[in-house]
Amino acid sequence: MEPEEGCRLCGLHQGRSRIVLASGDPAARVCLVGEAPGEKEDREGSPFVGRSGKLLDRMLAEEGVDRSSLLITNTVKCRPPGNRDPRPEEMAACRPFLLSELAERDAVVALGRSACRALAGLEAPMKDIVNSRVPLDVDGNETVLIPTYHPAACIYRKEAREGLRETIRAVKGML
Ligand code: URA
Repeated sequence: MEPEEGCRLCGLHQGRSRIVLASGDPAARVCLVGEAPGEKEDREGSPFVGRSGKLLDRMLAEEGVDRSSLLITNTVKCRPPGNRDPRPEEMAACRPFLLSELAERDAVVALGRSACRALAGLEAPMKDIVNSRVPLDVDGNETVLIPTYHPAACIYRKEAREGLRETIRAVKGML
């Protein structure tokens, strides 16, 4: 299930250049969920192609995980103005699309606070929940949510990088 071209289910349609749909393998066992498209994603129409995407790509490659074996998406499919956090009503409007992307995955990786909040209502500091396993109900089917750091948090923070690296290793064991 995807948003219609020209979707106006929330106010984010006003500032977007394009809707940024998931990329990767539609049949992937694992789905990575980020926050929202940034400027480059909005321009190119694909998630995680900007600075944090480059870091994610590098870490995946270092751990021997092929990005194309995953499904990568965001809690909302349109860029919030000025890259502000997506609002609850924007996440709620996009939720049916997100849930359809999570169906039948063995695991869902929440990249950062917004994804943790949107997917499982997690509000704890990342350091307390990183790489835990949280049961996640997706339309009546249980999967597992793995909270971890957003790649943007890893640019300057070694401890975040190590947390995300541990997540990538766990993901590798599931593919
Ligand atoms: N940050 C995100 O959360 N998602 C993207 O697609 C790019 C940057």
